[in-house]
Amino acid sequence: MTLISFAGPGKRDSELEQAVAAGVLINAESINELTRLAAIAQKLGRTARVALRINPAFELKGAGMRMGGGSRPFGLDEEIVPDLLDGWGRFGSHLAFEGLHIFAGSQNLNGESIAAAQRASYQLALRLAEHAPTPIKTLNLGGGFGIPYFAHESPLELAPIATALTEIAQDAAQRMPQAALHLELGRYLVGEAGIYVTRIVDKKVSRGHTYLVTDGGLNHHLAASGNFGQVIRRNYPVAIVHAGEIKNTDKKVGYGDTAQSQRNGNTTNTETASVVGPLCTPLDLLADKVDLPITEPGDLFVIFQSGAYGASASPQGFLSHPTVSEVLF
Ligand SMILES: Cc1ncc(COP(=O)(O)O)c(C=O)c1O
Repeated sequence: MTLISFAGPGKRDSELEQAVAAGVLINAESINELTRLAAIAQKLGRTARVALRINPAFELKGAGMRMGGGSRPFGLDEEIVPDLLDGWGRFGSHLAFEGLHIFAGSQNLNGESIAAAQRASYQLALRLAEHAPTPIKTLNLGGGFGIPYFAHESPLELAPIATALTEIAQDAAQRMPQAALHLELGRYLVGEAGIYVTRIVDKKVSRGHTYLVTDGGLNHHLAASGNFGQVIRRNYPVAIVHAGEIKNTDKKVGYGDTAQSQRNGNTTNTETASVVGPLCTPLDLLADKVDLPITEPGDLFVIFQSGAYGASASPQGFLSHPTVSEVLF
């Protein structure tokens, strides 16, 4: 079953008003937000559908970005939620409690740890459900399904997740019979479906090192520059397309820091270069010391795994360069 929900810290009053009017489920992130939401729903004469986003005490092990456990700006700490639910009446009659949202982290390639987080989330939900004013109708167990970006990474193993979800669904059918279970996937659905393409506009050598300068950089693709949650900067998988002629479409070309690339099967026609964007900052680095086919201005530089956190997660206004075009095939 599909669910439209509205999560995230810092929701504006105007956004909450629209969400209430549209009847979507609002995942509340704080007590203050619940209080504002109650007032908004009362003003509109509507009932707001609410789930509580919980910041669990446990962490999602192996996640690229942890969004639960410890102190977080996301959600309500699980320790305060029993009292909050016991006193739900204080929010008046315009908030309809529907369930819980537990999103522990993002970009995880370890199926066992996602499964462990799902089991822990379900157990937490069972405990909190004892305090809920009404039976749980929605239980969002989060997501965190990662995709491989770098040479040392492997695709996510789904089998342990399937086992955990089967167990949870069977148990929930008995102990939480009114609850619809939801997962919340982002990059796993679209990340591998998109590429970023930029043109080489200049080639230069500085003290022995070759730079290929592109017309788009971190302003279009912050994640590929390593400035979006990477602790150690690594190269995304990349390829070169010669103007009008495909030089090499092998996805492994340029994959990682030391990948070998070929041009028309000839491994000698390669060079090691750094690919940099047009911004006046050393952060604007799309590929560092990568082996590529001999490349000239006019050729295209391609970055794979770019279907998520590309345009929408990049500072497109930086230095007023043209924004990136998004094309659907
Ligand atoms: C609440 C929530 N749901 C879903 C996502 C999507 O995450 P991903 O694209 O890693 O699956 C995020 C990302 O941070 C998130 O914060």
